[in-house]
Amino acid sequence: MKIKNICCIGAGYVGGPTMAVIAQKCPEINVTVVDINENRIAAWNDQDVENIPIYEPGLSKIVEEAKDRNLFFSTDVDAAIDKADMIFISVNTPTKTYGIGKGMAADLKYIELCARQIARVSTTDKIVVEKSTLPVRTAEALKNILDNTGNGVNFQILSNPEFLAEGTAVDDLLNPDRVLIGGDIDTDKGRDAVQALVDVYSHWVERDNILTTNVWSSELSKLTANAFLAQRVSSINAMSELCEKTGADVNEVAKAVGMDSRIGSKFLKSSVGFGGSCFQKDILNLVYIAKSFGLNEVADYWEQVIIMNDHQKRRFASNIVKTLFNTVSGKKIALLGWAFKKDTNDTRESAAIYVADYLLNEQAEIVVYDPKVKKEQVYADLDYLNSRSEKENRQRVSVVNDPYTCTKDSHAVAVMTEWDEFKELDWKKIYNEMLKPAFLFDGRRLLERDTKEEIGFEFYAIGS
Ligand code: UDX
Ligand code: UDX
Ligand code: ADP
Repeated sequence: MKIKNICCIGAGYVGGPTMAVIAQKCPEINVTVVDINENRIAAWNDQDVENIPIYEPGLSKIVEEAKDRNLFFSTDVDAAIDKADMIFISVNTPTKTYGIGKGMAADLKYIELCARQIARVSTTDKIVVEKSTLPVRTAEALKNILDNTGNGVNFQILSNPEFLAEGTAVDDLLNPDRVLIGGDIDTDKGRDAVQALVDVYSHWVERDNILTTNVWSSELSKLTANAFLAQRVSSINAMSELCEKTGADVNEVAKAVGMDSRIGSKFLKSSVGFGGSCFQKDILNLVYIAKSFGLNEVADYWEQVIIMNDHQKRRFASNIVKTLFNTVSGKKIALLGWAFKKDTNDTRESAAIYVADYLLNEQAEIVVYDPKVKKEQVYADLDYLNSRSEKENRQRVSVVNDPYTCTKDSHAVAVMTEWDEFKELDWKKIYNEMLKPAFLFDGRRLLERDTKEEIGFEFYAIGS
């Protein structure tokens, strides 16, 4: 079957860019992205494409090309579902904050709401594609709801996990290492549905790079990929602490190790800790699933990746306190960067949030500069932790839109995100305007030690 109308529920970091690329590459398919968040849809529809709600290099150009041609953004979820042959579910699946599985299991309430809505509205056969990262066997739950509450139409469920990384989303979508499609490959209808989605991606992805599997392999592959990636970061971060004690340099170690082709050089960058919406959530999910099958050794093995990451964030913050003569009370600390990595305005699970929280508990005054993150987001992230009142967060944290205002009169500067522009700052000016001794903490191994020490900084970098 040929797909003519696609609907995507959820206009976020995954749904937005993915649908923009599908629309650009498949001009004969109408793509409608819907969301219940009116502000988000309004921002996607803004006349000025630079105002779209998600910052990704190259994205605004693609949106500009496809929007109002065959790419549409709307809050009318029912209408888009009704019209579509294929529906992507790309809503958020945060970790549960209540009840059984609190702090570990994925909260599937948004997914379930979508399924019930699709079932209620649909009057023609649909292919439903899970795009959000979901626990293994969610497809089964989806199918159950759709088949039992629907209008007797046929639903085929596919799992098509997204592997794009933020900051490089457009490039990852245009040139994916692979596209993974899981479906009910034992039935004709299931195989047809898989083929329909293969045909969409074949517009720009080589057929050999499109893998088809059963639904559960597909679902589990996504969790496995993220767990392996996160594990590499925790592994190198574990080594960073040992490097600091022994005089080895973690960058040198990473290079030497990564040149072994069995290991590979990517994803071995030591940092203040990984963040983002996926790694922690997916590993917690994996741990929860393993435990629910009584696989305690498997669960403990993966949980250690999170324990190490939490340790890395805490260790970075406590090192700041220790170095500043065991107190930061009333001291101004400048944080350069708030996003969880460069080239995105996303702050979910960003290490900066936890470092700031730790320092605030030690009574520090925090000033934040990030080239893409808005002030309200910084406050929302801190408020969400519930460590102190919203009022106090606003009194003790300021967010500025210039790096030099951020660092002026500070006792210490900490690099939290590896934004390229931080390398090019006038570090001499920053030094001159800081209190002395001027402490500089590099949580990303972004800056050169020699030049900073020459200027006069007391320089500390992760893993050296
Ligand atoms: C990740 C996966 O890479 C992607 O395939 C999946 O679809 C979603 O989750 P994302 O979270 O957007 O993507 O970014 P990623 O580049 O993986 O970085 C995650 C975190 O790890 C960031 O905080 C980053 O700074 C950190 N990181 C990454 C390191 O600290 N060191 C590294 O070597 C790599
Ligand atoms: C290892 C290192 O590979 C080598 O670089 C180092 O110099 C010495 O230690 P070796 O122990 O000889 O070499 O063999 P290797 O191929 O690494 O296998 C080690 C064990 O891991 C074997 O029992 C092998 O069967 C097992 N293995 C390896 C797996 O179970 N799965 C794999 O994917 C790879
Ligand atoms: P991701 O990184 O997975 O894309 P986001 O939080 O950026 O996550 O995006 C998910 C989007 O899904 C949000 O904009 C949210 O408003 C939207 N959403 C959640 N539930 C529904 C629903 N039932 N119907 C429509 N949109 C929804």
